[in-house]
Amino acid sequence: MTDYRPAATRYDTMLYRRCGRSGLKLPAISLGLWYNFGGVDPFENGREIIHRAFDLGITHFDLANNYGPPFGSAEENFGRILAQDLTRYRDELIISSKAGYVMWPGPYGEWGSRKYLVASLDQSLKRLGLEYVDIFYSHRPDPDTPLEETMGALDFIVRSGRALYAGISTYDPEQTHQAAAILRRLGTPCLIHQPRYNMFDRWIEYGLIDVLEAEGIGCIGFSPLCQGILTDKYLRDIPDDSRSGKWKGQLHWGDSVSDERIARVRKLNELAVQRGQTMAQMAIAWVLRHPVMTSALIGASRVDHVESAVAALDRLEFSSGELEAIERILAS
Ligand SMILES: NC(=O)c1ccc[n+]([C@@H]2O[C@H](COP(=O)([O-])OP(=O)(O)OC[C@H]3O[C@@H](n4cnc5c(N)ncnc54)[C@H](OP(=O)(O)O)[C@@H]3O)[C@@H](O)[C@H]2O)c1
Repeated sequence: MTDYRPAATRYDTMLYRRCGRSGLKLPAISLGLWYNFGGVDPFENGREIIHRAFDLGITHFDLANNYGPPFGSAEENFGRILAQDLTRYRDELIISSKAGYVMWPGPYGEWGSRKYLVASLDQSLKRLGLEYVDIFYSHRPDPDTPLEETMGALDFIVRSGRALYAGISTYDPEQTHQAAAILRRLGTPCLIHQPRYNMFDRWIEYGLIDVLEAEGIGCIGFSPLCQGILTDKYLRDIPDDSRSGKWKGQLHWGDSVSDERIARVRKLNELAVQRGQTMAQMAIAWVLRHPVMTSALIGASRVDHVESAVAALDRLEFSSGELEAIERILAS
């Protein structure tokens, strides 16, 4: 058993935003367990980060079948933390998982078939020690499986009680429109879309936001810090213990700590300081400036990353001059 007791003040300062036109509210800051919570990472560090997050009102924890490494280990570790410390708070938590990327060998271990999605979620539930997740996502669109099958699997997953809500991730505007229509027809509305969104990756501004607003779907933007690049951590060098240092610059999504990017971050950092914020806090506030954005989905390797992210909520507003200055720097 545990000596962890969540802070009595946990709901005092966090903002909760409605997820599209649903009944569900999510914290403006959510915590993802893609990195730093796997079998290769120090368990106690991850546990402390989760405790601090919940103490600060972060009620939403985002996982996927393959988070680790190794695959599945972030769910196993989170399941351990839930069992040790958070069982009695289950109804205060929104826990999500996903399937779509490769998880096990053979034709049924990735993409969007009903066979894969249902089997994968059953495995996730075992690792998490849960009867249901709150949100289950199709992690990526599958060009070869009929959308009706993938959305039909999400509908079945919700109706069978394995998940409360259905979501999609990284679907483009047209795929999102079609997925939403199928899910609506089936009677399981699409609750949420999880796209990547940060100052260096603004693809959702070209069509997706319009679809989400029209369909009443919420949005949780992942990697608001561009995996740490939109912080002050790389302004001098690449620390060995940073994500880029640890993975020898091999970051996903084509991210790299390039001189051009760091030159822009240096200028953005000056603006953040003028606003009385850190670079990371301004990057998070910037993502949350759009009303469609239900939550910014951050990652953290240390407790103070979570504290800093939550403190971004103290200064969310931007003047038009500040927004223009950001546009000029990003275009430079
Ligand atoms: N749906 C999808 O396809 C998909 C894909 C990717 C991610 N996601 C979700 O999004 C979540 C967040 O992704 P992400 O980890 O890339 O988010 P992020 O917030 O852009 O980056 C988090 C990383 O930035 C660094 N950092 C955070 N706060 C900092 C601070 N104040 N100062 C300096 N460095 C700081 C840390 O890296 P260091 O290790 O360098 O300290 C941290 O691990 C994931 O956990 C996952 O749940 C979803």
